[in-house]
Amino acid sequence: MNITRLKQYWYPIMEEKKLRHTPSAKKLLGIPLVIGRINGAIVCFEDRCPHRNVPLSHGTITHKHLRCGYHGWEFEASGKLNRITGCNSCPDTIHLKSYQIHCDHGIIWVLLEGDSAFENPFSVLKGWKSSVHTRVIKADFIHAIENFLDPTHTPFIHKGLLRQESHQRMLITQACDEQGFTTYYTLLDRQNGLINRLFDQGIDENIASFHLPGYALIEYRQAKKSVFQVAIFFVPIDKGEVSMVIRVSLPKTIIPSTFKFLLLKPFMELAFRQDKLILEQQYITHRQQKTPYIITHADLVIDHLLYLLADGEKGNEKTIAMAL
Ligand code: FES
Ligand SMILES: [Fe+2]
Repeated sequence: MNITRLKQYWYPIMEEKKLRHTPSAKKLLGIPLVIGRINGAIVCFEDRCPHRNVPLSHGTITHKHLRCGYHGWEFEASGKLNRITGCNSCPDTIHLKSYQIHCDHGIIWVLLEGDSAFENPFSVLKGWKSSVHTRVIKADFIHAIENFLDPTHTPFIHKGLLRQESHQRMLITQACDEQGFTTYYTLLDRQNGLINRLFDQGIDENIASFHLPGYALIEYRQAKKSVFQVAIFFVPIDKGEVSMVIRVSLPKTIIPSTFKFLLLKPFMELAFRQDKLILEQQYITHRQQKTPYIITHADLVIDHLLYLLADGEKGNEKTIAMAL
């Protein structure tokens, strides 16, 4: 992966409501982070005490300081060392490495490098209701994104739930740029999974998009009107470990959205577990055997994902007809 490039983006790291009075250990692109609220401010540091390199996330938070659990060194919210156990004074040159933080709509975001302006793709849609969930899977970052955006696995991994293998025809066009891509699916036949039979009132178009570094959105439309959206921010925690911040959104209607979410939840959970299982199996094989794989024109998103995230060759714009 192009780690240098990926470090220049903001990532959702945790939900603010999950912050406790103790420091939280997180990882982003393999870098251990400690997050906590010190003196009212949410802060993020490299999770390493400069004294003997133990994780600060094993320490404690007093009202004004983060205290290392090993020899009790104390750090201020700015990261500056404030107290050395057994010494009357401490040098003012010792600082923890700190990272930029932004809290927005209950989510804490982190920037590892650079000065990119904060942008929240999860901003609340007017007149819609959303529910946000976080999941972690042991999978490859790029292939987890591919799985969410590519439809060809659906009649097999989600057999019966999202689709039956029955030649549902669709016309597909895809536009790519330097920050992402958008794939438009015009459904000539209605999707025929159980979830569609129960909830789908006639969706005739899906728009699936990706934006660097890991934001993917599928919008389901009926007569040009958006009726359901699933967005996932894929966060590369570490090699083979991906966090997914999932936002499911429905327009507010006469039937309360909360009730609809409750009805949909078990089906969405099942689809997630089915994907998780195959992605985790894929990663084990991928890790053990570094054999190159085959990309065909039916693999709609992998080429441009590899271009954006791993310096592969640029993907082609596509216009194809497909039946699944
Ligand atoms: S290792 Fe942190 S105070 Fe010694
Ligand atoms: Fe899937």
